[in-house]
Amino acid sequence: MPATDPDPHALELAETAAAAFRDAHGEEPEGLWAAPGRVNLIGEHTDYNDGFVMPFALPFYAAVAASRAEEWSFHSTYGNGETVRATELDGVEGWAAYLAGTAWALNESGFLVGPARIALHSDVPVGGGLSSSAAVECAVLIALADLYGHEIDRGEAARIAQKAENEYVGAPTGVLDQSASLLCEAGHVMFMDCRDLSREQVPFDLAAEGLAMLVVDTQAPHRHADGEYAARRADCEEAARQLGVASLRDAPRHAKLDDDQLNKRMHHVVTENDRVLKTVEILRTGRVAGIGDLLTASHVSLRDDYEVSSVELDTAVDAAIGAGALGARMTGGGFGGSAIALVEAAAAGKVEDAVISAAAQAGLPVPRVFVARAAQGAHRVR
Ligand code: GLA
Repeated sequence: MPATDPDPHALELAETAAAAFRDAHGEEPEGLWAAPGRVNLIGEHTDYNDGFVMPFALPFYAAVAASRAEEWSFHSTYGNGETVRATELDGVEGWAAYLAGTAWALNESGFLVGPARIALHSDVPVGGGLSSSAAVECAVLIALADLYGHEIDRGEAARIAQKAENEYVGAPTGVLDQSASLLCEAGHVMFMDCRDLSREQVPFDLAAEGLAMLVVDTQAPHRHADGEYAARRADCEEAARQLGVASLRDAPRHAKLDDDQLNKRMHHVVTENDRVLKTVEILRTGRVAGIGDLLTASHVSLRDDYEVSSVELDTAVDAAIGAGALGARMTGGGFGGSAIALVEAAAAGKVEDAVISAAAQAGLPVPRVFVARAAQGAHRVR
């Protein structure tokens, strides 16, 4: 049974997952679980450099209905509502790889699970850079852990879900997305040190301050499996090697490298970690409006030094700031996906209009804009 009240929206999605489970198997699932997507407020491309991040959970969830069974079976409401059956966990492909991979990673980590029947229903936008894949992994992870009686520390669970993504799915990502999905708390942004996963939940009540956070999903799919993400990681590792430090987290503040590209990558990571520390200090005093310039500076650094932005993201950020946003930046891995804009609540409509018309004028896809709230992390729903 759930320890806390489920998020009402997660419950709704989980009911749909339960209906899909009943259709597929003709019986009730043993339980329902949900895990959210995320926005990263600031601290981008710092996670795999042992640095600082600040995500909050979005009220978009991957929900699963699941039961223990004789054989693995994965069902998804996505697309045509396909079912994939597997007698073993190796070699499962496509969307079901996120489910099979999570079970595999649990087993590899010594938490024996399965087989199980799992039905998935998610409304985290796929390709929006809002962690749709981590949401699936984390929902499946807590479901299997519960069904098979394992109590797993949430930090360790994040590493296991990351292992599924890295080693089974094959995307060389850091631990940001899975820890956001598993560890964020409603009404808070989570300040986390990726070196040891130590964290602080910082109150994040935008409405109380007359503010709102817009998320702009540019509808330009982000692609970090395409080699650019791995290339940035490799640059960071090489920069750290040349400096003789374990990771760029430890780069001396005024270090300089001969190679211009490596120097820019390092500069982004060092300054971004600084910006996260400044952001958390401001948030602790409850003056959220004061972080606007840090958000915008983060975008400029990701655009110019880290070179992971895109025309869609730059257009959205420039338009938001032009229309009076207090700050704006891309969020997540980049190369498409989503941007965020911190606005006075009263200006939300104006900023939204400006972002949409700027995209139209530039001949880009029409973005989807919504107001974010800091939602509850992964939890059992029933
Ligand atoms: C993606 C990855 C994360 C992180 C961000 C950039 O979302 O999955 O691990 O590296 O990009 O901050």
